[in-house]
Amino acid sequence: MKLPRNVYKPLAIGAPEPYRELPVRLERMIHFVPPHIEKVRAKVPELAGSVDVVLGNLEDAIPLDAKEAARRGFIDMVKATDFGTTGVWTRVNALNSPWILDDLTEIVAAVGNKLDVIMLPKVEGAWDIHYLDQLLAQLEAKHGIGKPILIHAILETAEGVKNVDDIASASPRMHGMSLGPADLAASRAMKTTRVGGGHPDYRVVADAGAPDAPRASYQQDLWHYTIAKMVDACAANGLKAFYGPFGDFSDPVACETQFRNAFLMGCAGAWTLHPSQIDIAKRVYSPDPAEVAFAARILAAMPDGTGAVMIDGKMQDDATWKQAKVMVDLARIVAA
Ligand code: GLV
Ligand code: MG
Repeated sequence: MKLPRNVYKPLAIGAPEPYRELPVRLERMIHFVPPHIEKVRAKVPELAGSVDVVLGNLEDAIPLDAKEAARRGFIDMVKATDFGTTGVWTRVNALNSPWILDDLTEIVAAVGNKLDVIMLPKVEGAWDIHYLDQLLAQLEAKHGIGKPILIHAILETAEGVKNVDDIASASPRMHGMSLGPADLAASRAMKTTRVGGGHPDYRVVADAGAPDAPRASYQQDLWHYTIAKMVDACAANGLKAFYGPFGDFSDPVACETQFRNAFLMGCAGAWTLHPSQIDIAKRVYSPDPAEVAFAARILAAMPDGTGAVMIDGKMQDDATWKQAKVMVDLARIVAA
């Protein structure tokens, strides 16, 4: 069953309403924090209101002996903070891990009413979403959670990429999907140790000219295929697509380029793992004022969205009107 964008139909018996309108939220950056570190937790109130989403990370990058502390830290942090308009997410451990059951049961019981989205790693097929969907329905019913907790899948295994359409349509509880380039690289046996971004050896070379002439070559985007596949699966099911992590904090230019490629291809945001990436995401995933001004001229020139007009020598028609509306709508949400 297909539902219109941002409409969620609770599955739980006794759920409060058959359909709920969820607000369209700005989610330009999903900012990761490690909740087992007290110093980090202490700074979370400063993040509320200044980032679109705060995510308490319980999975990879949290040491084995800190898994329980991270879960407890996340609960404490959510209880203690007024997040205002900032979204509250957690990345739980994978479904085949020893921590996931406690992650879900303890977190939903303690702070389910304040939790917007659960990010589920290593999703391989619709069955993973069905399982989490049912468990959340049971926990929401048990704890009287009025607002449905949404599911965000990380696309980070070859099997998951193969099943991306089934994952996207597995439940009306699906919020969206993120590319997980680090795990995906490992799953595919790609020869890189990087977390996202390009690789200097992945390039095309210009045809050979004179035998000694230097040959121009350009780095290519390792993630183009997967992002395009993910964006199509998400758009076809009314979900949002996101670029995931960019691990080289010392290279803001490459980070911005990767984020921007994903934005142009249809992504709504990216993960920020370091505070320096927050402003990059904010800049990239907010539409450019000059583009918005041009888009507004298209809308104004075609009030009913049909026909064909010329603006600055460029042909506009019903299709570019729709493109322009995407940009103007996003600008409105950013300005709100
Ligand atoms: C994120 O989880 C990744 O594996 O890139
Ligand atoms: Mg991963």
